[in-house]
Amino acid sequence: MKKAVNEQYGDVDQIKIIETERPTVSNGEVLVKVKAAGLNPKDILVRKGKFKRFTGSKFPQGIGYDFSGIIEDPMNSTFQKGERVFGMVNGWRGRCCAEYVDVKAKELYQMPDNLSFEAAAGIPLAGQTALQAIRDQGKIRNGSQILINGASGGVGTLAIQIAKELGGEVTTVSSSKNLELCSSFGADHTISYQDTNLLELSTAYDIFFDVFGNYSFRKVEGLLKKNGIYITTVPKADIIKEQFSNLFRSKKARLVVVRSNERDMRWFSQKIGAGKIQPVVDEVFDLSDIQAAQKRIESKRAKGKVIIKMST
Ligand SMILES: NC(=O)c1ccc[n+]([C@@H]2O[C@H](COP(=O)([O-])OP(=O)(O)OC[C@H]3O[C@@H](n4cnc5c(N)ncnc54)[C@H](OP(=O)(O)O)[C@@H]3O)[C@@H](O)[C@H]2O)c1
Repeated sequence: MKKAVNEQYGDVDQIKIIETERPTVSNGEVLVKVKAAGLNPKDILVRKGKFKRFTGSKFPQGIGYDFSGIIEDPMNSTFQKGERVFGMVNGWRGRCCAEYVDVKAKELYQMPDNLSFEAAAGIPLAGQTALQAIRDQGKIRNGSQILINGASGGVGTLAIQIAKELGGEVTTVSSSKNLELCSSFGADHTISYQDTNLLELSTAYDIFFDVFGNYSFRKVEGLLKKNGIYITTVPKADIIKEQFSNLFRSKKARLVVVRSNERDMRWFSQKIGAGKIQPVVDEVFDLSDIQAAQKRIESKRAKGKVIIKMST
């Protein structure tokens, strides 16, 4: 089968498409024939060697953490051969930009009928990140005021819709050209970081979701209500330190670390099936164009998700 790999840590020219054996599956796993895969900033960071501690020094290394496709071998799971599924592999062994992927049965779920494979592949990693941040870390309630910084990207466009679905009053922060995009997904208020200094805002928020990750708890503390929560996606040293101090103060700092699970994939399957959440696709690339697709992510200008389509 065809599979995209990194031959070494480095630039996009380290990415190659190789021919390799199909993966084998064991108990608790299923084999999926991949139709499309999502790309994420994680793929870029891993390729550049930013997580060597977890990804080690053995090459080639597979690429891609979320996918959509068809069950090829259900093993002893409750899935049926031929079922349409989407999901995300946990951990650091990327491998979804390939014709087949081995995945734990609890890391995927049936796709809703109204979804293309390309649209579905962008949901699992970005969507579960946003859901776990807003619902689990942020404890959003009806009427909560939430600010989403970096609202026009893969995580952000889903975060807007999830926050609205869970009852939040949503303020987005993006560049000026993406203000309308954010409104179109339900933002109640839109701010351009090019025109407004966030630190001078007079509103206070229950949740500051720093998707882009260029703020810190200390910087935005003054924008949080008494029991407000700052959530970041970026595991910098200061957030690890700040989380320890949470016990002693009313305002909290939290880091979201996404984990794929059946309950959350079911949540998306149902909400998308009911038309409550819409996937947002920036651009679809063929597997052979994966270098260009990764450059699109690296530009930090993607509006929604960058997707790799498998040709078979
Ligand atoms: N911890 C976890 O489990 C986890 C999971 C998923 C993602 N992440 C992290 O979350 C971050 C976002 O991921 P993503 O998939 O949403 O990335 P993405 O899709 O590549 O984000 C692109 C977006 O970033 C926005 N952006 C660029 N500069 C900005 C700025 N100065 N201020 C605000 N927004 C800006 C762009 O909007 P404009 O063009 O409008 O500026 C663009 O729409 C990444 O750092 C990723 O590594 C962490």
